[in-house]
Amino acid sequence: MTYNLLKGKKGIIFGALDEKSIAWKVAQHCVSEGAEIVLSNAPIALRMGEINKLADACKAPIFAADVTNSEDIDKLFIQTKEHFGGGVDFVLHSIGMSPNVRKSIHYTESNYDFMHKTMDISAMSLHRILQAAMKHDVINEWGSVVALTYIAAQRVFPDYNDMADAKALLEGITRSFGYHYGVKKRVRINTVSQSPTRTTAGSGVKGFDGFISYAEKMSPLGNATADQCADYVVSLFSDLTRMVTMQNLFHDGGFSFTGVTPEVIEQMEK
Ligand SMILES: NC(=O)c1ccc[n+]([C@@H]2O[C@H](COP(=O)([O-])OP(=O)(O)OC[C@H]3O[C@@H](n4cnc5c(N)ncnc54)[C@H](O)[C@@H]3O)[C@@H](O)[C@H]2O)c1
Repeated sequence: MTYNLLKGKKGIIFGALDEKSIAWKVAQHCVSEGAEIVLSNAPIALRMGEINKLADACKAPIFAADVTNSEDIDKLFIQTKEHFGGGVDFVLHSIGMSPNVRKSIHYTESNYDFMHKTMDISAMSLHRILQAAMKHDVINEWGSVVALTYIAAQRVFPDYNDMADAKALLEGITRSFGYHYGVKKRVRINTVSQSPTRTTAGSGVKGFDGFISYAEKMSPLGNATADQCADYVVSLFSDLTRMVTMQNLFHDGGFSFTGVTPEVIEQMEK
């Protein structure tokens, strides 16, 4: 069911890699709710070619940008303004990568060049995007920015590695920039803290399969899917949530506030 919640709105979606990506679902849902979008991802991800299918289905152009490169982001915003003949109403940041996770390096032995890269791609990129957006005045008044995060920013999940620190920084930037962009242009900025979800980035975390079933058993509503996440993000891009900003919003079926469940206790007693 669609509600035309984003009719007349325009947005940028960062991070759709393949059809499992959370950003892929958000792009589809935004378009079915009446929005026009542009898609962006790193040049290396675009070479995979999968995104072309999404672009065709959404009638969206694809603009390459490595989010660790300010010039790329400047160029993307100039192209976006040209394409729409003006600014945008929403931006999705759905980007994460840790070379330490990729190479299975234990947290206590983190490689610092890799850790810099993790922070740069997964957290500072939000700052870089917002700074460039302000400079190019690309986000319209009452615009909405959403970044995807994970509860490892608040509680320890040992195998989430340095991504946990990146998510803590991402949520910090959301609050700090949310203040400044709110004052300057009434732009709101929030993070959505999503249940573990089977995607390329998600599956890179050690022990992910066991973890996903643990989270399922620990959530009164079960794990939230990528499609359900997209629904929630659409609501945050819509005019129905105009006074919500600088928040970390859990979208996790109740996992974050559940202490224990009979299903988990039963498992322990086996
Ligand atoms: N999958 C999960 O379990 C889960 C749970 C909570 C939060 N998240 C977050 O959701 C977001 C999206 O991840 P996903 O699970 O859909 O996986 P995904 O692998 O589909 O998406 C990650 C995206 O980041 C992009 N990216 C990486 N480096 C980049 C760079 N330098 N420049 C531009 N883009 C770059 C990738 O190309 C990819 O499109 C991430 O922030 C992730 O941490 C995921």
